[in-house]
Amino acid sequence: MISSECLRSFSQIVAKAKEQGYYPYFHSLSASFGPEVEIDSKRVIMAGSNDYLGLSNDPRVIAAATDALHNYGTGPGGSRFLNGNSILHDQLEERLAALTGKRKAIVHTTGFMTNLGIIGSILEAKDVILCDHDNHASIISGCDASPARMIVYRHNDPSDVSKQLEIITASKPDARILIITDGVFSMSGNIAKLQDLVDIKEKYPQSMIYVDDAHGIGVIGKRGRGTADYFGVTKKINFIMGTFSKALASIGGFVASDDEDLMLHLKHYSRTLIFSAALPASSTAAVLAALDIIEKEPERIRRLHENATYMRENYRKIGIGIEKGTIPILPIPIGNDTTAYNFASELFRNGVFAMPAVHPAVPRGCAIIRSACMATHEKHHMDRIIEILDSLIKKYHIRKSDLSDNQQNTANDQCP
Ligand SMILES: Cc1ncc(COP(=O)(O)O)c(C=O)c1O
Repeated sequence: MISSECLRSFSQIVAKAKEQGYYPYFHSLSASFGPEVEIDSKRVIMAGSNDYLGLSNDPRVIAAATDALHNYGTGPGGSRFLNGNSILHDQLEERLAALTGKRKAIVHTTGFMTNLGIIGSILEAKDVILCDHDNHASIISGCDASPARMIVYRHNDPSDVSKQLEIITASKPDARILIITDGVFSMSGNIAKLQDLVDIKEKYPQSMIYVDDAHGIGVIGKRGRGTADYFGVTKKINFIMGTFSKALASIGGFVASDDEDLMLHLKHYSRTLIFSAALPASSTAAVLAALDIIEKEPERIRRLHENATYMRENYRKIGIGIEKGTIPILPIPIGNDTTAYNFASELFRNGVFAMPAVHPAVPRGCAIIRSACMATHEKHHMDRIIEILDSLIKKYHIRKSDLSDNQQNTANDQCP
């Protein structure tokens, strides 16, 4: 039990932050119009959303969710295993298997629950998980739920994976080894070096690769098929996991694989699938509609990439340390946590909503503003964001030239 002293001191920290106007969390939106949202009766530009394609507000997605509400009601009435499964779940699993180029897919109620239930059920106690240092918290919870031992490798460093595999196979020749990585890392926007990981895996037949592609599905690869497709290594990846809470405009998650026997096992043993309520029909139908639109309108992904390119180029022009590229996650390196809180508050007061990310989401001392762009941002939105950022990064002395190497590295591969 957390001591009452600890609880008191935490309450005091939060109260002080609120009093001084820099508490950044739990803003209450009263409406969302996609690239703009309403908070405290004020319309601000949304510059941190994972709704990358802007499909959450698409009338066709809303109509599909509304129809499903009328057909199935608001709640699922149970877990998929028992009475909560619907034709929509079955259809969605088929669509996701086709999208990711895998034989089978299993839908869960959130992405977090997918990682928790699936990673927790794949391995035995004699096995090992090799986990990227910067993997998402839900992967860590999945590793904690697994009887296998977890070993963390240096972020996006295939040579460290190779070294660890050599050590593990020498001491545990019978162990299965699951290498887990985000496809696109949620805070930095770095793309995992999947081709290198696949090359290494080929040398160790007892190893498998699990890619959490929460930020890759709908964003990269042919027609948004994700990071494995982007590298052309789909067949070599054992598990592709994704969420519906980002580009797919809903909520929920899935895992896809070619191993039909294992998938059948997981469908009966993933605790978060068996013992938790099914994804509601409205959310399921929304994903199906979003997939239809992505298929029919590839220009949306093109627009997202154009916007990301524009934002990255302009961030660089005003002195923000960010790589060129087309990934819509746009981290602004800040460094110190308090500066990040103050910076986010001042952004908000100037009509731009983007959240700070501090430890443990990023390494200590490497706080960022986790900004992101959407396909539905218009040029005037982006120019306004850039204009405000330009004045604030000068005021807070966080241009690339102002920051230490460590802080700058948050935006690239080498952050410790
Ligand atoms: C990489 C990654 N995996 C998993 C999740 C969890 O997904 P969900 O929000 O659907 O629970 C997230 C969410 O932020 C994520 O960024």
